[in-house]
Amino acid sequence: MPKWLKDAIFYEIYPQSFYDSNGDGIGDINGIIEKLDYVKQLGCNAIWLNPVYDSPFKDAGYDVRNYRKVAPRYGTNEDLVRLINTVHKKRMHIILDLVPGHTSDTHPWFKQAKQAKKNNFSNRYIFTDNVWNAPSEYRLMCGLCERDGNYMVNYFSSQPALNYGFAEVTHPEWQLPMDHPDCLATRKALKEIMRFWLDQGADGFRVDMADSLVKNDDTKEPTATIWADIRQMMDEEYPDAALVSEWCNPQIAVNKAGFHSDFYLDHIGNGYNTLMRGGSWGDKAFFNKNGEGNIKAFVDEYLPAYLATKDNGYISFITCNHDTPRMTAYLDEDAIKIAYATIFTLPGVPFLFYGDEIGMRYLPDLTSVEGGYSRTGSRSPMQWGKGKNFGFSECDKTYIPVDPDKNAPTVEKQRRKKGSIYKAVKGIIKLRKKHPELGADGDFEVIYAEENSFPFVYRRGKYVIFVNPLDHLTDVRFDYEVKQEVYKIGEYVQSWEKMTLSPQSFVIVEI
Ligand code: GLC
Ligand code: CA
Repeated sequence: MPKWLKDAIFYEIYPQSFYDSNGDGIGDINGIIEKLDYVKQLGCNAIWLNPVYDSPFKDAGYDVRNYRKVAPRYGTNEDLVRLINTVHKKRMHIILDLVPGHTSDTHPWFKQAKQAKKNNFSNRYIFTDNVWNAPSEYRLMCGLCERDGNYMVNYFSSQPALNYGFAEVTHPEWQLPMDHPDCLATRKALKEIMRFWLDQGADGFRVDMADSLVKNDDTKEPTATIWADIRQMMDEEYPDAALVSEWCNPQIAVNKAGFHSDFYLDHIGNGYNTLMRGGSWGDKAFFNKNGEGNIKAFVDEYLPAYLATKDNGYISFITCNHDTPRMTAYLDEDAIKIAYATIFTLPGVPFLFYGDEIGMRYLPDLTSVEGGYSRTGSRSPMQWGKGKNFGFSECDKTYIPVDPDKNAPTVEKQRRKKGSIYKAVKGIIKLRKKHPELGADGDFEVIYAEENSFPFVYRRGKYVIFVNPLDHLTDVRFDYEVKQEVYKIGEYVQSWEKMTLSPQSFVIVEI
């Protein structure tokens, strides 16, 4: 386990939307370097950088054309190395995005694989043996190349799946087993890409669709064996580098695949949805003040995952990410503050998505840009302050339009405003750093989390945390002696054996 990870508080930077330093309407690496102090002042000490590699951007860079080259619109490889070094000088860490499951269909490997004539890359991707062979249980792209066969995709049609083999070979005429030399060659190529960036100082990777490598893999344990092999390489060669997975199954990702942390996202059961976005439009979210949420659904799913993995690694909560609607789509400001306070006082390694700290709006009406579709609404340019495009860019037309609301929140305004989301985020991060019990490794115990009932109460070492998202008072039995108040949003009263919490409150006391 890399030593720095337990104290890490990540800030996710979506590079194209963070800060445009040269006025072409797209964020870039030099822009990120200019804004590092901002991230540090907020209290974050680690960065997850979304893909910055050369790409045709059919899926915002998750369609890699060259893993070893920075996309010119972001800068050069030297710029990225300068970013990494500057991050380190500020005593922060940075992990890059690794896309192991697929490439762009413009990647040179794929261009070779598509050719009729057999070559070294013919098995780098997964092709059926002829175009008429198109079993419907696979996501196959048919009739698109000279080679007589159809290829499998991982995500969009422009993202052919790399070939790590099949756990169960059901069509031997075109499926290869995992230990086939050509599948092992794919794995070797992946390791080389990882070494390439780790050798230049990257502190690890956030791994995209980490569970997607092996096909016909229902249990995902075969896929986990590949990562366990990679983890071994990391332990031997790069013991300080971290691996964070987009897997959403910590029991496998952490315990079997060897990831240091696994994201808790909306596709683990529906626990995360239950917290932030339950129901059709957040109407059943736990943090919604209407009281229709159910914390038990979350706890029933999270607690076993936490208990099963806590000795081996972490679970990472996010405020949101580049794939999910920002909480502003569903929750009011007070609810958001309480939600963030909860996320930052749970165990594991938390991630804050750029702009969430100022309450940037989710913009549902934006036309899709770079394969974003509904996700585009969470990817609009960062709002820094007054001036053109809220200070994001000097250009006339930014690649995704900025929030059209002139009163949209900005860093400048949020820093001044009393009781702003920005101040709440900064405060809770500071608190987490001050009290290790509230951090990644501290104990976690559920005190009160009942079916459709409020509040949610949990304990972290000597601290007890009360969360009341409701628009009215609520109380809960509580007969400990409170030594001191540690943090609060809203108010509380302890009397007799009861703790009464004001509407939309979040309270930490020491017992
Ligand atoms: C992950 C990324 C997402 C991307 C997809 C395909 O879910 O977070 O943005 O589109 O993988 O690579
Ligand atoms: Ca730029």
